[in-house]
Amino acid sequence: MRIRKAVLPVAGMGTRVLPASKVIPKEMLPLVDKPTLQYIVEEAVAAGIEEIIFVTTRSKRSIEDHFDSTPELEQLLKRKGKHKELEEVLRVRTMARYVAVRQPEPLGLGHAILCARDLVDDEPFVVMLGDDLVAPETPCLPRMMEIHEQYGGSVLSLFTSPPEEISAFGVVAAQDVDDDTVKVTHLVEKPAPEEAPSNLAVAGRYILTPDIFDLIEQTPPGKGGEIQITDALEMQAQSGQCYGLRFNGIRYDTGNPLGLVTTTIAYALKRPELAPALRDYMRQVLRNS
Ligand code: G1P
Repeated sequence: MRIRKAVLPVAGMGTRVLPASKVIPKEMLPLVDKPTLQYIVEEAVAAGIEEIIFVTTRSKRSIEDHFDSTPELEQLLKRKGKHKELEEVLRVRTMARYVAVRQPEPLGLGHAILCARDLVDDEPFVVMLGDDLVAPETPCLPRMMEIHEQYGGSVLSLFTSPPEEISAFGVVAAQDVDDDTVKVTHLVEKPAPEEAPSNLAVAGRYILTPDIFDLIEQTPPGKGGEIQITDALEMQAQSGQCYGLRFNGIRYDTGNPLGLVTTTIAYALKRPELAPALRDYMRQVLRNS
């Protein structure tokens, strides 16, 4: 079955990037001149996703507004002959169908995904986390979709984490089934380094089969007292229904201050109109520091 829907849980408070995220949702913080979340939506659309389901919260209305129509702005751009800008604004609001549902309480990532149940219905879907960016030149969703086609089941994006960072992630035990594909046999959410089953960590892209919703409903609060998607996935793994892609592409974590700065620089360096001046500036700064 072709995967058409992506769930983007964006209800998190973003405490690691306070005070920037106090009023502005962390997913709306810009990388160069575009909100982080727009890059993620573009990645979904490039992989063939047609419907974006935001799981949002009371204080994050600007996320829905960003992808909605803005008649005054559109008319103004038309009147002023700013055709390129108008085209971009129209592209953003028409590149997918957008719907939103609210997570009433911050009960965890598993719970946030469960909030989208009625909108997803009975089909496999993608989950994309709002502060986990994948470089456009190395996308992982298309290959994850192929793995889902071939083996069925849920598919996780996995990367090799340095040991000192492993306890920030879901971590898997897995067996190789193909060059880049593994069967996941066990998952642990944010283990202590000595308890990690391997160095393969879960990145912020998932393909989930719809039986996950019943499993989340059966999942008791886990790490941090929250309902964890990792724990629901453990039940799928136990029944042989969970696979993973060993992903070698570039990932950026924009959920912390250093990640925000380095990702902004990386994305600015991808822009031919900005890169030469930015390189000169960085050389100067490095010489003087
Ligand atoms: C979440 C998941 C974790 C995963 C991580 C990827 O954690 O719970 O299993 O490895 O995303 O970014 P969070 O970063 O929301 O604490």
